[in-house]
Amino acid sequence: MRRSGVVRGWRLVALVAAALAIAVVGVLAARAVLDAPALRDFFSRYPGTTERPEAAPYGFPAWLQWQHFLNAFLLVFIVKSGLQIRAKQRPPAFVTRRNTGLITTKRPPRRLGLHVWWHLVVDTLWVLNGVIYFVLLFASGQWLRLVPLTWDVIPNAISAGIQYAAFQWPLHDGWVHYNALQQLFYAATVFLAGPLALVTGLRLSPIFTQRDSWFTRRFTETAARRLHWAIMVYFLAFTVVHVTLVVTTGALRNLNAMYAGRHDESWIGLAIFAVSLVVMVLGWFVARPALLTRLAERGNDVRRMK
Ligand code: HEM
Ligand code: HEM
Repeated sequence: MRRSGVVRGWRLVALVAAALAIAVVGVLAARAVLDAPALRDFFSRYPGTTERPEAAPYGFPAWLQWQHFLNAFLLVFIVKSGLQIRAKQRPPAFVTRRNTGLITTKRPPRRLGLHVWWHLVVDTLWVLNGVIYFVLLFASGQWLRLVPLTWDVIPNAISAGIQYAAFQWPLHDGWVHYNALQQLFYAATVFLAGPLALVTGLRLSPIFTQRDSWFTRRFTETAARRLHWAIMVYFLAFTVVHVTLVVTTGALRNLNAMYAGRHDESWIGLAIFAVSLVVMVLGWFVARPALLTRLAERGNDVRRMK
């Protein structure tokens, strides 16, 4: 036992050392590429940012700031309940919708574990937030900042990626225009990962798991579960890299833009972000089974298991 523990410890040390070595080699390689005379033309032609469309608005309106916060806040509950579903523990309570009032269906409602019920409640709010964001994005012209419109976004994103890897941050001022790598990842997160989470989530929900149809045969529950899980891993990885870059590429300026709608280096954005972070951490701890069960009892038949 002890010996295998020691072996495992050494393996971990070797793994961390190898990862560090690869990171150092990566940074050195990126610097060499940046400095290579043969590539000077490439980097001056593709500095990392596409041309800003003239009609694109500047800055972040209040609705966008709120929706960005609500998205992250709701994801706290979505991720927590998703992990609880995956852990397959016995749910602390079972919830059955009362089939009366606004949503009355022919098929009797299915009994759901408390975590699945809560996951679906918060998903509904998250999707609602997303739909409002989509509508306002296109109505306000903000989509022009997010969606790449020319193919040179690809070489520009490669250029920006090499600059990030070399720790020579590409020029970026999110208030004015995102760099190409930001555009690609923000657009993929909003227009691909979000809708895919919804489609795969619906496939796992009682709407489809109880049905046999062309769609359910082509798109199996196992495939949907795998993809749904992969999307969560993407969301978490995106958030870690996103927040790391927000903090390391001019934290005050970036946080002011997204949390206070200001284009300066005061401390207000950081203060608002800190409060929002406290709210999110509180959310994680407050959403306990006892509270959720009481919430579920408003309008549903609930069977407590303890
Ligand atoms: C957009 C709307 C969404 C819907 C309708 C939805 C729906 C569902 C449903 C029905 C399940 C399966 C419950 C069961 O096994 O009985 C599930 C599982 C899960 N969801 Fe979602 N979900 C959504 C979004 C998300 C998002 C955005 C995330 C993470 C960022 C997420 C993470 C998870 C995880 C980790 C599981 C457990 C998967 C497993 O068992 O391997 N979901 N979701
Ligand atoms: C809670 C910590 C977070 C912080 C501090 C943060 C901060 C920011 C900032 C400062 C910007 C503007 C970028 C710039 O000016 O360069 C931004 C944009 C964006 N963030 Fe976050 N973010 C957080 C969480 C998230 C999460 C969890 C997601 C999604 C999973 C997300 C998705 C986005 C998207 C899509 C944009 C572009 C929005 C647009 O312009 O319409 N963020 N974020």
